[in-house]
Amino acid sequence: MLKSTVMTNSLIKSGWESPSNIALIKYWGKFGKQMPHNPSVSFTLSAAATRTFVDISEGNNGDPIDLNFVFNGSKNEKFASRINKFLNSISDEYFPFVKKYKLNIDTSNSFPHSSGIASSASGMSALALCLCDIENLLNGKQLYDNDFYRKASVISRLGSGSACRSVFPEIAVWGRHENISGSSNEYAIPANTELHPVFKSFHDDILIISAQEKSVSSTAGHNLMENNPFAKVRYNQANLRMEMMMKALKSGDISAFGKITEDEALTLHALMMCSDPSYILLKEGSLTVINKVKAFRDQTTIPLYFTLDAGPNVHLLYPDEYENQVNIFIQEELKPFCHEGKIIRDKVGSGPVKIC
Ligand code: PMV
Repeated sequence: MLKSTVMTNSLIKSGWESPSNIALIKYWGKFGKQMPHNPSVSFTLSAAATRTFVDISEGNNGDPIDLNFVFNGSKNEKFASRINKFLNSISDEYFPFVKKYKLNIDTSNSFPHSSGIASSASGMSALALCLCDIENLLNGKQLYDNDFYRKASVISRLGSGSACRSVFPEIAVWGRHENISGSSNEYAIPANTELHPVFKSFHDDILIISAQEKSVSSTAGHNLMENNPFAKVRYNQANLRMEMMMKALKSGDISAFGKITEDEALTLHALMMCSDPSYILLKEGSLTVINKVKAFRDQTTIPLYFTLDAGPNVHLLYPDEYENQVNIFIQEELKPFCHEGKIIRDKVGSGPVKIC
């Protein structure tokens, strides 16, 4: 494996650590330039994060994009070509400096690459924050105001839709909803002032059921919504659920929150199952864990709920006060269904941090 080469004579450097997020109301189906067909809302996480450093220096070799890209300390051609394509797509409109300088990007994840956890939300938001920061620094500005985060959210969205929600603390809303003031398809907005304190310390334990690459990518899944016979009904449903979810999040109604969250997770996978071609990303272990979570909740009345992203791994959401009981349950009953016993213990987090 090639090792990271450290660039010398760097002109400007910026580093950001940005977290992943887990959607409560799911974005599934897009149009135009990564615009969502329905609004979504997510918890910003904390432990699952990407650290990215970008520096620019003189001496662009004349290529449209002169990029040295390092992932987890090594060259990674697959990611480098994705980043190259992304930079090419945004440079003319947003960051002309990208084609003028030599670019060095050094990025790493706090969670194992092979864990089956999507890194695009944390990765794209960390990169977007670095690029916005460098643009400001080139203009002699160092200002992290609303405009800064809004632009970072737009750029993150262009990299990977759901990434646009990661730039805000605790909870973010993305997608136009007629009753959510300021909501937009182009960027996410922070919604933490609308969040009841009980959710601010909520846990998200991510059970890694499988670490294999998904058989159908999210991009392909979004595209399959175009011909899904239930698409229109789904987008209406998401708008209604969005309103109910925002109310539950504000009032601290955990059981309403839990019901909508689980319904959303299963709807997402049901949409996959009735796409053409149909596909299933859940594994036997996912279903076993889901059933065990429901039984545990019925028996103990502890408000433990599940959600899923576009894959087999199960996210367990619960209030901080039940940490010990839930942990015992996970260790004794759920861990055997996790790939190599892997669990990422995460929580609602306070958003990206500038690290350099
Ligand atoms: O941002 P994408 O294109 O990876 O799509 C993410 C879709 C879901 O994770 C399933 C839902 C969401 O809103 O994050």
